[in-house]
Amino acid sequence: MSETSRERFQSTLCRARKIAVLTGAGVSAESGIPTFRGAGGLWRRYEATSLASPEAWRRDPGLVWEFYNHRRERALGCAPNPGHHALAQLEARWREAGRAFTLITQNIDGLHEKAGSRSPVRLHGSLWQVRCLSCGSVTENRDVPITPAFAGSGSPDPEAPARRFTAAELPRCGCGGVLRPHVVWFGEALQESDLAAAAAGVEGCDLLLVVGTSAVVYPAAGFVPMAKRHGALIAEVNVEPSAISGLCDVVFTGGSGAILPSLLDVTPA
Ligand code: OAD
Repeated sequence: MSETSRERFQSTLCRARKIAVLTGAGVSAESGIPTFRGAGGLWRRYEATSLASPEAWRRDPGLVWEFYNHRRERALGCAPNPGHHALAQLEARWREAGRAFTLITQNIDGLHEKAGSRSPVRLHGSLWQVRCLSCGSVTENRDVPITPAFAGSGSPDPEAPARRFTAAELPRCGCGGVLRPHVVWFGEALQESDLAAAAAGVEGCDLLLVVGTSAVVYPAAGFVPMAKRHGALIAEVNVEPSAISGLCDVVFTGGSGAILPSLLDVTPA
């Protein structure tokens, strides 16, 4: 009898000395957080660069904050789903066994951390951190609304003229400088330290599990060929084919919250 994809995946998983997991917006979809490119995705409604780019910030920082304030408001009420929990539990078992495990996420929602994942590599920053444009300090910030002026502002309406927020209504650092979201925007470089941590986790891994990403944004998309070059088994969990499905050794089609708990219910051998 030929081995099923699940058997092949689980037999590699239980023997894996080094595991890397790459997640994207799809892993949080079952928690109620919209993805970017699929049906109902944020970039279907908005022009990405009009809200998530340095140019957008220069043009209208209030509009950019309105977008992130809305995303914070939405994420605040969302809980990790069984997919986030299954990944956190897998990490705990692997660390307990003294084996290597790296979770790399493109998500900024903080749900992996809420589920118990320890120090995921956050390639695109965090919805819950702000950075001062004057002194450069990065701080945790969970204020929703981000300042009183943003209370009830909702999401920016691409069909209507933008509401203008004044400079005095923007969030400020203790030093007086304006705060921006500590996230990576289109056209900005990723943090070198995050890239190095992600690459170190992927290089030489026995298994790379890719969950809920369209895999069209670099450098995240580049981790798949990197792992493959080193001979890792590449597995994907997604509701539909992605840009990297053709490179994967095993593909599991369906929601990650439904699939991951039983797929990852494996102890290190
Ligand atoms: P995308 O919106 O591009 O892709 C989401 C993926 O999740 C798609 O492949 C869906 O098929 C899949 N998906 C949807 N629901 C799922 C579920 N329940 N279980 C599993 N998979 C599911 O999001 P990302 O690939 O994360 O960057 O996008 C990458 C980056 O592009 C984001 O971090 C963001 C965006 O522009 C910045 O903002 C810088």
